[in-house]
Amino acid sequence: MELQKPIYLDYNATTPLTANVIEAMRPFLEKHYGNPSSDHPYGRLTKKAVEKARSQVAGLINASPEEIIFTSGGTESNNWAIRGSIQSCGGHRNHIITSAVEHPAVTEVCQFLALQGCEVTTLPVDPQGKVSPNDLEAAIRPETTLISVMHANNEVGTLQPIKELAALTHAGGALFHTDAAQSVGKYPVNVKDLGVDLLSIAGHKLYAPKGVGALYIRNGIELEKIMFGAGQEDNRRPGTENVLEIVGLGKASHQAHQDLEETMRHLKSMRDQLHTGIEAALEAGSIRLNGHPQDRLPNTLNLSFNNVEADTLLKKIDDRVAASAGAACHADRVQVSSVLTAMGVPLEWAKGAIRFSVGRMTTREEIDQAIAILTSNVQPMLFI
Ligand SMILES: Cc1ncc(COP(=O)(O)O)c(C=O)c1O
Repeated sequence: MELQKPIYLDYNATTPLTANVIEAMRPFLEKHYGNPSSDHPYGRLTKKAVEKARSQVAGLINASPEEIIFTSGGTESNNWAIRGSIQSCGGHRNHIITSAVEHPAVTEVCQFLALQGCEVTTLPVDPQGKVSPNDLEAAIRPETTLISVMHANNEVGTLQPIKELAALTHAGGALFHTDAAQSVGKYPVNVKDLGVDLLSIAGHKLYAPKGVGALYIRNGIELEKIMFGAGQEDNRRPGTENVLEIVGLGKASHQAHQDLEETMRHLKSMRDQLHTGIEAALEAGSIRLNGHPQDRLPNTLNLSFNNVEADTLLKKIDDRVAASAGAACHADRVQVSSVLTAMGVPLEWAKGAIRFSVGRMTTREEIDQAIAILTSNVQPMLFI
């Protein structure tokens, strides 16, 4: 008999594969092994599958297929977008603007480039995690090459005003990149509507496998390569294509596109049930929402529990509920996430922050059970 698994409320960390994605991938695991660059039936078959996936990914974000380049995931897409943009300018313009709540796959790249002589401006966020367009406008300079601001935050789910930020960027003569690893598949992402030049996708956040992703590069944008090798992916990203996972990403994108409205309704309903259930079971004033109450991913609930150490609580219940802590409490200090720090969440609340993220497979029963487990364990810790 299979052991009872903990209730999974960590879909922002990663998602399982759906049955349809597994089925689409299976023939490429079992029999279709041709190299897409080979000019014979084996190669032509896998080449066709890669091109179909490219159209499916493009369809999800309203891009053209030739604007989609497959990568190994969100991290590579972000690295390429940022480093490639700087390299494309050949050192004439080397100012990057980013935000204080980016994923390390953006901040670490910017830090690396700063060591190489680039100038990096980091925009602050308000207490709900939003970047101000006015701050961006003030920061843009003639030598600004690229602005990189994420679409949705992975910890608190706050959505950024990308359309406005991209318009200001273009008025200032720079390029706009957004890390959409968390929003694609959970929230409408339309590159034409957003007006972005570059956009990163991570497969494993939308029910495709880990280790595959894509970078949208708007037609007409010259982005320098950051890897060198053979001429795959229109001579932009070398390496034999990860056909199996690209097919999975294509199928997952197709499904996400078809089901987006229904998915969003389900996610929001599960997320809100969790929030109201926890709120109803605990004394007033014992929880606090981190992130924007409305402009937020429909699946993300970042809650702080008063006087609770999030990691201690999660360890205590980790055989029953899987979620993520926003701070790590050590014997002599508390290490708060950079996102909560940037939002100015007070330490007494930050140390009790937990990110719950629901997914397509989350059920009402799971939420009811999670509420009971959480609140019965939190109750004795409150206001001690
Ligand atoms: C916002 C964001 N960007 C980038 C990444 C990295 O993506 P990948 O794991 O595919 O490299 C993640 C994954 O946690 C993420 O949440």
